[in-house]
Amino acid sequence: MTDIKELLLSRIRDVADYPEPGVMFKDITPLLADPAAFTALTDALAEIAANTGATKVVGLEARGFILGAPVAVRAGLGFVPVRKAGKLPGATLGQTYDLEYGSAEIEVHAEDLSAEDRILIIDDVLATGGTAEASIQLMRRAGAEVAGLAVLMELGFLGGRARLEPSLTGAPLEAL
Ligand code: PRP
Repeated sequence: MTDIKELLLSRIRDVADYPEPGVMFKDITPLLADPAAFTALTDALAEIAANTGATKVVGLEARGFILGAPVAVRAGLGFVPVRKAGKLPGATLGQTYDLEYGSAEIEVHAEDLSAEDRILIIDDVLATGGTAEASIQLMRRAGAEVAGLAVLMELGFLGGRARLEPSLTGAPLEAL
């Protein structure tokens, strides 16, 4: 394992039965509290932003905000938040997606994205891929190109990568 992988893994805490019985929650707060680990993560993601030729970083609520904002600053790019529905005050584009029970909706300010943009989407975890898939659709509907998707962790057993393959259309999915 590379040094950075080892460092990041050592700062992610497994919390059993949270938020409900049977779920192993991946808590990134120890990583955020460690300046060496948080800086290493930010640098690695900023390198991906540079390599993909991204013009903007899009962070997915809520932990994608914490990870994505410093990456945008480090890479010299703008940051655009994708929020849960009902949180943005301006004119929004929305995208609904299915959950195990029911559905959810995410939104972005339409004016923050344009046809000139190449977007690097950042989040902490790729699980089923539902959130990421909806955000990719949202970028496309806003006219922007998706340069790639970068996450700290991929929960491979949930099949998110395979689900995203058609919507990524060749754009890289990087999991640190
Ligand atoms: C978690 C995680 C990702 C998403 C991944 O966020 O931070 O955004 O779920 O799951 P998926 O791949 O199955 O869509 P959550 O919805 O818990 O929101 P929060 O970060 O606001 O707590």
